[in-house]
Amino acid sequence: MSAFDPAIFSRNSRFEVDHLSIASISADDLVSEFGTPLFVIDEADFRSRAAHWKSALEEAFGESAGSVYYAAKSFISKEVARWVEQIGIGLDVCTGGELAVAQAIGFPASRVELHGNNKSEDEIRQALSYGVHTVVIDSFFEIERVSRIASELGLIQRVYIRVTPGVEAHTHEFISTAHEDVKFGFSLASGAAWDAISAIRAENSLQLVGLHSHIGSQIFESEGFAAAASKLIGLLARFKDTYGQELPELDLGGGYGIAYLPGEVTLDPSRILSELAEIVKRECAAAQIAVPIISVEPGRAIVGPTTTTLYSVGTTKEVELDGGQSRRYIAVDGGMSENIRPALYGAEYLAILANRLPLGPTCATRLVGKHCETGDIIIRDIELSADIAPGDILAVPATGAYGYSMASNYNHLPRPAVVAVIDGKSRLIVRRERIEDLLALEI
Ligand code: LLP
Repeated sequence: MSAFDPAIFSRNSRFEVDHLSIASISADDLVSEFGTPLFVIDEADFRSRAAHWKSALEEAFGESAGSVYYAAKSFISKEVARWVEQIGIGLDVCTGGELAVAQAIGFPASRVELHGNNKSEDEIRQALSYGVHTVVIDSFFEIERVSRIASELGLIQRVYIRVTPGVEAHTHEFISTAHEDVKFGFSLASGAAWDAISAIRAENSLQLVGLHSHIGSQIFESEGFAAAASKLIGLLARFKDTYGQELPELDLGGGYGIAYLPGEVTLDPSRILSELAEIVKRECAAAQIAVPIISVEPGRAIVGPTTTTLYSVGTTKEVELDGGQSRRYIAVDGGMSENIRPALYGAEYLAILANRLPLGPTCATRLVGKHCETGDIIIRDIELSADIAPGDILAVPATGAYGYSMASNYNHLPRPAVVAVIDGKSRLIVRRERIEDLLALEI
């Protein structure tokens, strides 16, 4: 049976007597004002999670604490970039588009890190002219490109090397990034990472300041992060032995898991970062190097739990299954265009009835969207009240990360609006796309 679960909904969500409210605004009121599908982001929750990552990093690593870089790919808009700026953390961007959002609000370049496995020359130029703090170098071609552009601009650019440490992260193959057979970074085992170090040191316009690794996403155990950290520390030790000086920084990437279903738990930043600190300090002592400045790049763990998608039910249908059983389909007004994760990764979600109390028994349900495709499934199997009918509102929690940011216009469906709620007030931060926006692209 699907019920409101405070561990999965954003912190200021409640089920009040007979309806869902977020930051004291009822789902009904949000839908009347902004329509559906609607992404509702709990601003205070976002701010407190981001601030918690910052304080947890400082507590765990003390003087060696670097920056928390919020991973913009999980969800970015100008308003969210302003919150990130105000909280005092950094921003990880991996395209010129994400960087443009930061630039549009004057986000301090000194807190921006540029990623990407195939940065274009224009993107590199955009980032370097803006003055981004660090560029994470991902390939040999890029060493030459970043160096040349830095030199054209008369800069010496701080860079990290993205290292592929050969760690198998326990998560879906498509979001696992640190085993050997991937497009990202320089492999440690093959010696490419070491060769990249020497190549960068030969460039006058590049200043190598550290190493980076990101092992994957939606990871719950510290083992994978610890294994990656220990391999990178091995490389830092080799650097010291060879060059007689230390590389001062280490960025351990993002990937911290969150709860999507009842019984799952969102990783506590204080816990995971103190575990990591212990391992990093121990390994550095064993390798006889100073503890480097440690940075992290959580995306999902900050924004994922803060957002709920509201949908309107459009149709329902009973379908006979083999063996005399039946399945009830509920179709809502969005689907794989604003949540591709179930189709792409087999991701699972919860849904609840948000506008009233359910009456009577539940039944085996499949929650689907409105796209012309059988795989347009939001939730494959869920028990939902049998009386759910057209006009009801369903709420799907934990959709803040990689929901809107991966949204498409499949079937020419305009992308949803995003509304921020705080202390009983709501405001649109991204307006709903219109068909005219789509038609305007055509020549
Ligand atoms: N840093 C780097 C270099 C990354 O590539 C990523 C995510 C992050 C940080 C942030 O990871 P997070 O903390 O959000 O897990 N679309 C997939 C996730 C792809 C993640 C790509 N890189 C999903 O919906 O699960």
